[in-house]
Amino acid sequence: MTAMEIASDGVLVLGFPEIDRDHHSIMQMVNSEWDPAREKVVARLEEIARKAIDHFEREEALMGTHLFSLFARHKKEHNQLVEDISNVIFDIKSGLDFNVEELLHWTIRWLIEHIETQDKDLAVFLLRPPAS
Ligand SMILES: [Fe+2]
Ligand SMILES: [Fe+2]
Repeated sequence: MTAMEIASDGVLVLGFPEIDRDHHSIMQMVNSEWDPAREKVVARLEEIARKAIDHFEREEALMGTHLFSLFARHKKEHNQLVEDISNVIFDIKSGLDFNVEELLHWTIRWLIEHIETQDKDLAVFLLRPPAS
């Protein structure tokens, strides 16, 4: 398979369009302008979380169909990511001080680190040449 490239939105292109489309779509939501009002920040994070959960379900279905050997490890990290963003949403809803710039960076890291590790491993597996 050819080398993976980073797209202009900072997302590693894995070469599996069904997954890449979702990643860019989540990143687009992360990168569109944030209104710093608390309820708007909560709404944005909830929207990102919902989109991510849908995406994780699609990836997990793919992993199941293709009998991906690292399914359990990958799913565990999806669950952790959902828990992490849920905790951030809870804290902000509860009145904790926040900085929009820091939140934006946190959310980018939250998404990118998973794509560049677990999702990359999954793409390498899905795109491997068929055994002859
Ligand atoms: Fe994933
Ligand atoms: Fe993903």
